Amino acid sequence: MRVLVVGGGGREHAIVDAIFREKDAKIYCAPGNAGISEQAELVNLKSHDVYPILRFVDDNKIDLTIVGPEQPLAAGMVDAFENRGKKIFGPRKLAARLETSKVFAKEFMQRWKIPTAEFAVFSVQQRNELKNYLSKAKYPSVLKADGLAAGKGVSIVQSFSEAEIEIEKFFVKKIFGESGERIVVEEFMSGVEASVFAITDGKDFVVLPAAQDHKRVGDNDTGKNTGGMGSFAPTPFMGERETLRTKVEIIEKVIEGTNAEGFPFRGCLYCGLMLTDEGPKVVEFNARFGDPETQTVLQLIDSSVLDLLYSTAAKKVSSYKLTLNNAAAVCVVAASKGYPDEYETGKTITGLELKLENTKVFHSGSKKMNNELATSGGRVIGVTGIDRGGRIEQAAELAYKRLKQIHFDGIYYRRDIGKNAIEFEKKAGIRE
Ligand code: AMP
Ligand code: GLY
Repeated sequence: MRVLVVGGGGREHAIVDAIFREKDAKIYCAPGNAGISEQAELVNLKSHDVYPILRFVDDNKIDLTIVGPEQPLAAGMVDAFENRGKKIFGPRKLAARLETSKVFAKEFMQRWKIPTAEFAVFSVQQRNELKNYLSKAKYPSVLKADGLAAGKGVSIVQSFSEAEIEIEKFFVKKIFGESGERIVVEEFMSGVEASVFAITDGKDFVVLPAAQDHKRVGDNDTGKNTGGMGSFAPTPFMGERETLRTKVEIIEKVIEGTNAEGFPFRGCLYCGLMLTDEGPKVVEFNARFGDPETQTVLQLIDSSVLDLLYSTAAKKVSSYKLTLNNAAAVCVVAASKGYPDEYETGKTITGLELKLENTKVFHSGSKKMNNELATSGGRVIGVTGIDRGGRIEQAAELAYKRLKQIHFDGIYYRRDIGKNAIEFEKKAGIRE
């Protein structure tokens, strides 16, 4: 089997690693990164270069292409491939709207009675109506840019005056460009968050163990939102009841609704959930695997990840049997000083050659420089610790132990990844 993974971050490294360890496949990655180059042959194409990548796939007789990030989905990569009869993992452009337009996603959920926060939508022209609405709203309240904003398009505001400042940013300063031309105002939901990946061929689906992401930059969920500073899986906050309700009230309804409306969703339906007192509610959908959740979730799968992705692209998920290994995994992301704001790159990374059993280092922003590895992004690496006994605490200890061996100038990481799960498990008496 010849496989191409599209993308070049920690998520794609984890996908490449899963395929590398289970199958005798030839793996390519476009564009990949320095870490990925140890397991796959890098292809010098940007992930949104739809037609050059299609040509590469033709020329190199690739059997399956796996799309990591959202931009190629929004650019119609899957449509272009499927129209040429090429097998590709990911949704077509119309189905990817569940991620690329928050207005579309909210209205879809409303039509199909999928549990989510109450909301209202306002366009640039409706600035006065928006102000009027927010002057009477309950606080905290949530403002979201309609389009893609690299995880930064959400503001939680505590008062009307804070909301006014945000409206200026969206509508006057246009910090999100076209993505911010419509704003979704949402009811604030409290609870614990969970990320659930449903792998579906448009008809049947497989649900992977749920994870939790840590989006804020600082310990105890303080500071700015980021692309994700760490994750753990499985999350003990997602019990059997929550899992069942997520399947019946959310995933099955998305499959039914997308089919009925003529855009069946194939790929990874990422359900970002809030586990509220009333049950799981959707915070957001994504049309792809999460980063850094993938760096933990894939460690829990015993059956073949490549077979799962191939059978999804081939519309044969019903014949796939998912088996899990009962492990627990924790991923801690090490970022450049300053992230998610301005940061410096080009800092030498040391300690990567060292080894620690049951740990893995996934690269997000690294590159080769004068025979050394150097930082090249905000999020630089993610270190995953794996405990075969299913204990989050042990998995976290391993991840932090391995991180201590690694260094670059200005290295920053959260010290509390998985802490809430460890405390929850202790309280519940799951662990001594
Ligand atoms: P999103 O990009 O929609 O996932 O939002 C980013 C983060 O903002 C989420 O992970 C939540 O922590 C928070 N958030 C978004 N919407 C809400 C909401 N309605 N209530 C509470 N928190 C929210
Ligand atoms: N971990 C959040 C995301 O991938 O969007």
